[in-house]
Amino acid sequence: MSDTANLTPTAKQRQILVTSALPYANGPLHLGHLMEAIQTDIWVRFQKLRGENCIYVCADDAHGTAIMLKAEQLGITPEQQIAAVQADHEADFAGFLIGFDHYHSTHSEENRHYAELIYRRLQANGHIASREIIQAYDPEKEMFLADRFIKGTCPKCHTEDQYGDNCEACGATYSSTDLINPRSVISGATPINKASTHYFFKLPEFADMLKTWVYSGAIQTNVANKLGEWLDAGLQEWDISRDAPYFGFEIPGAPGKYFYVWLDAPIGYMASFKSYCDQHSIDFDHYWATSATTELYHFIGKDIINFHALFWPAMLESAGFRKPTKVCAHGFVTVDGQKMSKSRGTFINAKIYLAHLNPEYLRYYFAAKLTGGVDDLDLNLEDFVQRVNADLIGKVINIASRCASFITKKFAGTLATECTELSLYNHFVDTADIIAQHYENREFSKAIREIMALADKANQFIDEKKPWVTIKDDNKQQETLADCSMGINLFRLLITYLSPVLPATAENAATFLNTELTWSGIAAPLCNHKINKFKPLMTRLELTKVNDMIEANRVELAKATQSTKTQPSQSSTVPETANPACDIQPIAPTIEFEDFAKLDLRIAKIIKAQPIPGADKLLQLTLDIGKETRNVFAGIKSAYQPEQLEGRLTVMIVNLKPRKMRFGVSEGMVLAAGPGGDAIWLLAPDSGAQPGMVVK
Ligand code: 2FM
Ligand code: ZN
Repeated sequence: MSDTANLTPTAKQRQILVTSALPYANGPLHLGHLMEAIQTDIWVRFQKLRGENCIYVCADDAHGTAIMLKAEQLGITPEQQIAAVQADHEADFAGFLIGFDHYHSTHSEENRHYAELIYRRLQANGHIASREIIQAYDPEKEMFLADRFIKGTCPKCHTEDQYGDNCEACGATYSSTDLINPRSVISGATPINKASTHYFFKLPEFADMLKTWVYSGAIQTNVANKLGEWLDAGLQEWDISRDAPYFGFEIPGAPGKYFYVWLDAPIGYMASFKSYCDQHSIDFDHYWATSATTELYHFIGKDIINFHALFWPAMLESAGFRKPTKVCAHGFVTVDGQKMSKSRGTFINAKIYLAHLNPEYLRYYFAAKLTGGVDDLDLNLEDFVQRVNADLIGKVINIASRCASFITKKFAGTLATECTELSLYNHFVDTADIIAQHYENREFSKAIREIMALADKANQFIDEKKPWVTIKDDNKQQETLADCSMGINLFRLLITYLSPVLPATAENAATFLNTELTWSGIAAPLCNHKINKFKPLMTRLELTKVNDMIEANRVELAKATQSTKTQPSQSSTVPETANPACDIQPIAPTIEFEDFAKLDLRIAKIIKAQPIPGADKLLQLTLDIGKETRNVFAGIKSAYQPEQLEGRLTVMIVNLKPRKMRFGVSEGMVLAAGPGGDAIWLLAPDSGAQPGMVVK
């Protein structure tokens, strides 16, 4: 828990409630969760440093089929399962210095209260519909099956072991009833179709409100544009109920029907905050009433934008609560340019990281690369080592260590009585506003660039003054004291600016400097001020330690994969990467040459590749085939970053009948081969080929 939240706001303070996405209570935290929590925590710490009243709440997302099944598999109750996972999550978050003001659970009385209240209000406003739908049902397990709990052979390309909604091999999307030999992943039984009444939230009724809201500045412009396209295409009613057995809250007045996990997950933000309010005598409505003048910020991954920027504001509108001030979406984490991979050990587990490395290394690296947009962030392991050492140790910490010992040994630990280099000092102070603007806009990489440019100037100053030379000259003692004091003062400004990113180092630096670090305190330098003995603030990062950490992950994940092979994966902030299957698929039936000759294969240049919001496996490709461009959806997202593909040549079938998919029309198919996961190879022709060339 952070001890820095201000509980009694003053009139001038901003009052901000901040959340990050609630991690599912069915597995440990990984790099994807950490990136989001670190991004949010830096932003919150920055607000607190500036003296704003900022409250950061989160919770575990404790409901749903996956959690219920996981508990069953472990032979414990769901309540035991979620309690154990929550304790684990809280310990890991604390290890990464995430300063939540409150951490709660969606399986809580506060959440039940608000979920029921909101549902009743939606119902009273005529925004709930109910009707019978047909769904796949496991007759042995006696439960309805979501698509990811059904596997079978792809009806299009006949690849075995594909999930019930789309084929990882050929990218086809279909309904689970189209699968050949479908089976329940849970019991192995063949699913049957069964009818059941479901409850729906009438989202289309909010289309006009949402069209205004998404362009109100509440979400990044490019995200708003994407949402605008969805809104123009027309919204569907949202199925908010699930049949028993389900771990969640039963819907009032509908026995055997439960709120779908995504209905009560965002309500968990309210529940966590309500629990905090009760502990600190804060008025909940002051933050959630439609008339609230307080700010509400949600930090989320780009894969869950629709829940936060469509369903959630619509629910809030109907239920008479305020809507978010901003939904801050971020991209995914990649490692060394690739999706996080279990087989390579780059699906980095929070605890394993902490057992090997200082959390502030990662906080700094993420900060140095984070922008306010939704681009993916690459953790390049060599660059990680280089940047941490060069910037933090080489530039920032170095300033203090170069100056402190002279002050302690020769000047009784007391800084000079006046600052003789006011113009340099003031230049550092004047940069505060630019740095603050970058932090505020979540452009942390820009803030870090500014801070490091100042660190370069501080080092230049010390290099020019050479206190290690002047200290030996009896006539230059006062000069040496002035220069070293200036160095310490510049270090104080740098570490204050970095304190949202490096809270532990900043705390140790504050002890060394014998002063509190505050944004307002930087205006005046420390003069005639006693400092404490300098102790090393951070050690160098060694590549061998990073490699050891990756290897430990690889070994651990291999063990875990072995023991959970039969469990379906559940989406999380960063979707799991499947282990490349090692087995070779059986060869499909022989075809005639005439069949093959019907294929018109051409060289195509990938001029644009982009992720599709809401699609786990597909990338949208724009292909230049000489005289025209084509739009193709390809199931290769698990293996390629979009930017790796742009500019490359591939082979495509240009005379395949256009196919309408969930995200648009696919006008052909690119040729790729591989068992899946991160092992899919896009067929690339020899250099010298030109878009449009016929492939023979
Ligand atoms: O995607 C996820 O991991 C969800 N558990 C996030 C929920 S965020 C909020 F809506 F609760
Ligand atoms: Zn297929």
